[in-house]
Amino acid sequence: MNVELYNQPLSSVVADITIEFVTSLQLETHAHTSILSMAKFEGKSEQVCLLHEHQLIVCGLDNESNDEYRLAMNCVIKTLLNTNYTSAKLCIPKEAYFHAVVEGVLLGAYKFQEYKSQPKVPSLQNIFFAYNSEYDFEHFQSILTQTRIISQATNFVRDLVNQTPYDMTPQAMAITADSLSKTNNLDCIILDVNGLEDEKMNAMLAVGRASINPPRLIHLAYKPQNPKKVITLVGKGLTYDSGGLSLKSAASMVTMKMDKAGGCAVMGIIKAISELKLDIEVHAFVGAVENMIGGNAYKPDDVLVAKNGKTIEVRNTDAEGRLVLADVLGYAQANVKADYIFDYATLTGACMVALGPYTTGVMGHNEELKQSWLKAADESGEYCGNLPFNPQLKKLIKSDLADVCNVSSKPYGGAITAALFLDNFINEDMKQKWVHFDIAGSAYTESAWDVHTYGGTGAGVRMTLQWLLKLQQQGNN
Ligand code: BES
Ligand code: ZN
Ligand code: ZN
Repeated sequence: MNVELYNQPLSSVVADITIEFVTSLQLETHAHTSILSMAKFEGKSEQVCLLHEHQLIVCGLDNESNDEYRLAMNCVIKTLLNTNYTSAKLCIPKEAYFHAVVEGVLLGAYKFQEYKSQPKVPSLQNIFFAYNSEYDFEHFQSILTQTRIISQATNFVRDLVNQTPYDMTPQAMAITADSLSKTNNLDCIILDVNGLEDEKMNAMLAVGRASINPPRLIHLAYKPQNPKKVITLVGKGLTYDSGGLSLKSAASMVTMKMDKAGGCAVMGIIKAISELKLDIEVHAFVGAVENMIGGNAYKPDDVLVAKNGKTIEVRNTDAEGRLVLADVLGYAQANVKADYIFDYATLTGACMVALGPYTTGVMGHNEELKQSWLKAADESGEYCGNLPFNPQLKKLIKSDLADVCNVSSKPYGGAITAALFLDNFINEDMKQKWVHFDIAGSAYTESAWDVHTYGGTGAGVRMTLQWLLKLQQQGNN
């Protein structure tokens, strides 16, 4: 979808239809009050009314906020995509809401059609924003550019997540990373099985051993001249999670192509950062692996030695993400001295039980740091919830055989015990600088919600960019 700003009043911008947002209060004084009330339009959230005879589409708002404007624009776009209109225009809203409206356009119009033999080409191609004399035009141009970069990165992640496990293998993820590094001028290092063996990443190797698609470690780096901070991002990139020998049920295996969403998210985040040209050095690490069954599969009862030397008792091969992350976190910390380390993983079904299907679980030792993330997520339009650690839960992953066990001895609190497992692979000096995001519930959807349709959502991208943009601002002060 093409979004353009016009330095002209709305009346002189040419388009097929005009978009308006109204709250129930504003409805009383609307030019078409009677026709809208005839259509039972009340100005509520997600209510849309198309007045073809007036070349007008009106959408309700429960209140004036970023979330409501984003949602309203999303409803308008989805409605217009089902019509034959080719262009629509609207006034630039208040500065505070402009980026949310643009997100509603760019994220709401997304549809993945790569596997359709006859993809639908929508008529709607252009959204025009007309200038509002109260504000500085240049300033809006820069908000538009920034929002476009972040939305396109989100859609890039959605595209990757939506690819089948046949197409998006660990090797294909590495090829994607390599081409991203070329277009965006990033450094790129890929480790194959030999490289992983040299690095003693035996936990990650064990998970990938039964697959015909061998694992890859991806390291992308964005290095500006004088960075204000150094950030490490780590993503779980399970291109398929069958559960391994602790095989998943037929029903829970479907959708497990999305188990690479954390890895895809960190690639999308570094893409956006390099396009926004932030003064922050960013390293993105992805553990790209396929968890399969076979004669050489790793087994419940195995003991694995991770990169940092710790031994892990495997009691369930479906708790594979934490094994991959154990090694990738170890590799990342050995190679980059960072100010912060954040990991993104579709790690546990338990996170969905705890927080519901749309919310990312936020875990870590540093309460203040976690709160800064909850705030950034809220501002960005993503949902996040804090899941607190405690010393009792840590006892549940003790092993009689090895240093730590890959599953908890109790069936509750699985998202937190998984994070406490990862804690074993965070170096002492990084404990307070680490945050873990469980995106199991937020990364993928089979039914539309908010700006998302069927498939990958791009969870993690918008909230991380918001957090990093604030970090950059702090550095400038
Ligand atoms: N990839 C799954 C977690 C998951 C489940 C993500 C559902 C998205 C939707 C992970 O590897 C897994 O299988 N976790 C197990 C852990 C258990 C064996 C301790 C789980 O959640 O059941
Ligand atoms: Zn699993
Ligand atoms: Zn998994």
